Amino acid sequence: MRTAIYPGSFDPITRGHVDQIERAAGVFDTLHVVILHNVNKTGAFSVEERLDMIRIACSHLANVQVSAYDGLLVDCAQALQASAVVRGLRSVADFEYELHMAQLNRSLAPKVDTFFLMTAPEYAHISSGAVREIAAFGGDVAALVPQSVLQRVRTHYAQKQ
Ligand code: PNS
Repeated sequence: MRTAIYPGSFDPITRGHVDQIERAAGVFDTLHVVILHNVNKTGAFSVEERLDMIRIACSHLANVQVSAYDGLLVDCAQALQASAVVRGLRSVADFEYELHMAQLNRSLAPKVDTFFLMTAPEYAHISSGAVREIAAFGGDVAALVPQSVLQRVRTHYAQKQ
């Protein structure tokens, strides 16, 4: 069984994430989509809200499991018996950050390999940060987040205004 983990903040999940999850789920037998804590980010959505949105957006994928983990990525991968970590790359800037993270993770857990998926061009401009910023100013994020979670994102920001 080839088990992989697709980790991230998912604050919130985007169309780019879903595209990558669908592609990775086609390669691995089981794909764990896991919310982990990024020490450089403060969450806009609660972990429960993010879990809900990921589950809704991935409900068509039978071999995808969704969870959250409070700790190191490599410890999470080992706890889930995952030998692979999948991360997306949109740009050279992403690559520099991701290479550093992959090498750090490799130094902590040499048996856990990181695999990079190149983002499809139509999603290369999408990020959770862009979704948060546009939504916070009342802009339309319909093209950026999965249709199935759009209303939740809109409601979250409508309540803040
Ligand atoms: O979606 P993000 O914010 O780019 O995801 C980054 C994330 C959450 C995967 C990363 O910050 C992470 O792995 N956090 C868990 C703590 C950890 O293992 N840090 C060491 C990585 S070098």
